[in-house]
Amino acid sequence: MNNHDVLINRNPYELIEKYGSPLYVYNENIIRKKCNDMKSLVSLPNFTVNYSAKANSNIELLKIVHDEGLTVDAMSPGEIFVELKAGFTPDRILYISNNVSEDEFKYAIDTNVKISVDSVSQLEMYGKLNPGGDVFIRFNPGVGAGHHEKVITGGKDTKFGVDQVFIEDVKVILQKYNLKLIGVNQHIGSHFDDGDLYIAGVKSLLNISKQFNGIKFIDFGGGFGLPNKKSDNYLNIQKLGNRLDKLLKEEIKYFDNDITFMVEPGRYIVAESGILLGTVYSVKTNYNKKYIGTDLGFNTFIRPTLYDADHEIEVFNNSKIEEKVTIVGNICESGDIMAKDRLLPKISENDIIGIRNTGAYGYSMCSNYNNRLRPAEVLITKDGNDKLIRRRDTLEDLLNNYDY
Ligand code: LLP
Repeated sequence: MNNHDVLINRNPYELIEKYGSPLYVYNENIIRKKCNDMKSLVSLPNFTVNYSAKANSNIELLKIVHDEGLTVDAMSPGEIFVELKAGFTPDRILYISNNVSEDEFKYAIDTNVKISVDSVSQLEMYGKLNPGGDVFIRFNPGVGAGHHEKVITGGKDTKFGVDQVFIEDVKVILQKYNLKLIGVNQHIGSHFDDGDLYIAGVKSLLNISKQFNGIKFIDFGGGFGLPNKKSDNYLNIQKLGNRLDKLLKEEIKYFDNDITFMVEPGRYIVAESGILLGTVYSVKTNYNKKYIGTDLGFNTFIRPTLYDADHEIEVFNNSKIEEKVTIVGNICESGDIMAKDRLLPKISENDIIGIRNTGAYGYSMCSNYNNRLRPAEVLITKDGNDKLIRRRDTLEDLLNNYDY
């Protein structure tokens, strides 16, 4: 799927004219399709897709995901807050806490969402605050994977999850506070391309689960990789789904009848639904290198700068000539690069370009660095209309948190 599907027949110049530049555009039909693809990954009735909202927590997109019947994870009180507003009932929200304060636990307890804790130390804190309560524990299965070392969240070299050697300590604390372990969860990492590692993680978590009684939820995490560029050959999700389906059908007999198996994709659900449009304001050559200067600074999309992610660039003009260029933004750092040494159709001032597959970890990682304004977000609805779903920041927004 490519981002022509995102815009359908929309003219990017008209969208920018109407909503301003830069601009995130998402396509509702693609999000719905991806939700359905994921729901059919495993054919067991007690299989749930838990959308990982950190990928994109725009409230209108959350409403679509909710409408498709997915549940949702949360990484902070802020995500819980917005998810409740989007219509998720508390029982459909899993707060996956990581090094949180008592106040954050209290907020989650008060809102009645499901809560997962990430260490023996935090289990003790939670037990004191909510004795007799339900809890999930995030385990570290000893397996990790991902597109970059910064997003490998399982295995021997990460801060996440409870190391299996502490299972007995976990049992002691569960008993001490009369806590009910209703679920276990994990996440081995993001954007992996090796299905074997995911399956190894699944097997590991199943084995951990068997060491406890009465578990109702086993959440294997997300991380399913998608190509950033058309040319990328990435994870075969069908093949992974078939393996998972087979494995879970064999394993289900070891668990109570009311067991629910979960996966937790973020990127897979929203990445391909989004394109980030921007405008070219300068074209120049510095010491033989051609730079295309745009308003797509890394405050609008940080993945290329942070992880060297190379997303496909779409050039909206009719140029037949190609040339090698570096696409840069307007931020005061030399790392402000969206694409390096790319062969692209010749670009001129006032052209509009798009960055593909930016529906995930795009807007959710935007910032006001350099006091730049975060872009607006627009949805192409299922009936083909464009709808503003978050306005662009204003200059006044930059003063929101001051007491004047
Ligand atoms: N569940 C948990 C507990 C997670 O920590 C994550 C992602 C997910 C699910 C969803 O992973 P996904 O299916 O989206 O790969 N900003 C990075 C990705 C960081 C992901 C961190 N955790 C990026 O742009 O590549």
